[in-house]
Amino acid sequence: MWKPDRQSKKPLYEQIADHLEKRIAYSEFPPGSLLPSERKLAEQLGVNRSTVILAFAELRSMGIIESRTGSGTRVSRTKWGATPKHTPNWNRYAEGGSFLPNLPFLRKIRDALSQDPSLIDFASGELAADLAPLDEIAALMREHHYTSYLGYDNPQGYIPLRQSLVDYLQKYRGIQTTESSIMITSGSQQSLYLITQCLLSPGDAVAIEDPSYCYSLPMFQSAGLRLFRLPIDQYGVHPEDIRELYKKHRIKMVFLNPNFQNPTGAVISSERREQLFSVASELGLPIVEDDPFSLTAFEGTAPAPLKSMDSNGNILYIGSFSKIAASGLRIGWMVAPNSIVQRLADARQQMDFGLSVIPQQVAAQFIKSDYFQPHLDRLQIQLQFKRDLLIESLRRELGDQISFVTPQGGLHLWCMLTPKVPDGKLLDEAIRRGVAFVPGSVYGSDSGFVRFTYARAKTEEIESGIAKFAEALHSLTD
Ligand SMILES: Cc1ncc(COP(=O)(O)O)c(C=O)c1O
Repeated sequence: MWKPDRQSKKPLYEQIADHLEKRIAYSEFPPGSLLPSERKLAEQLGVNRSTVILAFAELRSMGIIESRTGSGTRVSRTKWGATPKHTPNWNRYAEGGSFLPNLPFLRKIRDALSQDPSLIDFASGELAADLAPLDEIAALMREHHYTSYLGYDNPQGYIPLRQSLVDYLQKYRGIQTTESSIMITSGSQQSLYLITQCLLSPGDAVAIEDPSYCYSLPMFQSAGLRLFRLPIDQYGVHPEDIRELYKKHRIKMVFLNPNFQNPTGAVISSERREQLFSVASELGLPIVEDDPFSLTAFEGTAPAPLKSMDSNGNILYIGSFSKIAASGLRIGWMVAPNSIVQRLADARQQMDFGLSVIPQQVAAQFIKSDYFQPHLDRLQIQLQFKRDLLIESLRRELGDQISFVTPQGGLHLWCMLTPKVPDGKLLDEAIRRGVAFVPGSVYGSDSGFVRFTYARAKTEEIESGIAKFAEALHSLTD
């Protein structure tokens, strides 16, 4: 992001005025549109608000912008450009379409992280650079020639990647499948999107865990689905609740994240897995099994996925590279009955002709390479180390003000705070002190819960990040 040059002889306010004039001339801010507030710009550019006030005064004197008390500063409609021209009302367009905006807390966190790269990040649900197999991927890219042909590929996914996944799923998840039952996606997020858009219709009722990652996705509401909650405890959902929801609301699908659930870390017990099967097969109900975290299991192996026992064909299984290798590769997969794979591949063809071949080639090489298993072994140890460091820091800083169940895998720690403080205030205070986390309400829970991701922050940031969080909490409770 552009910042004024403090070494330059040109005063900061003039640099800012020139920069804004350029952005206006390039139509980033068309005539009549609202500019960011003085306070926000000052924050973004790392200058005093008075410097932005001077820059605005400069642009105002040239007739480029106009300010009205209470309604902010806008690009002038009349003086900017010689003849009156009509610009589309972009604000109205921006409110169109079927996508709802992201949740305000998530937008706030994303803005704060992009404006201040020094913020300690306990919010982003992904691996830090030191946990990702960057050297291994670089080595594979040097060793292999990836661009023999770069045409449109199969929208169902690159065949050698699907073949590698057949072996991977058998070896690591006990799932027997064929390459024609696998669909490659740009991550679990896209798998969920394809399911909601292609297999469900507006008004359909679906059940999701409470709390759940799914609450953070306006994608479900954008698709017009009615969401019903399945409260979870340490051992996951209660299968009988599914039967109740089916009776009352005729739910059409159930979304579960059975191993190291995001955000709680819960693992569905084997007894409940069996009950889930009997309820789902009795009602002919599909279960979407979202399984991104299993290979992070800290000790032993994670319980076998529902899909590995699915002789009846009730489970749509989705997996991803994001939490075990690198979220930026954007590689995910789905294992589903043939009719579903065909339907989704047809939709992919309409949407974007399928995923870029290059990351699929890299992923195919990586999972069958000798790098993969040692990477997983290292990842598990390092994640566990970060989890322990986070827990130690929380116990030291917050003692009995915080409680949690220690997760045995995954990237997140789900905590309850006592006394409860309002989510929004706590987030503001934390960001002001240089640390970000995700408030529990994003996942559908009440105030008083927080999710810390231990995988994303650098090891050396964890203690100081929690000290800052504790200060933020104490500023609201003392
Ligand atoms: C439970 C769960 N499902 C799906 C996703 C989406 O991940 P991706 O699209 O990167 O595979 C996430 C990411 O945080 C997640 O936690």
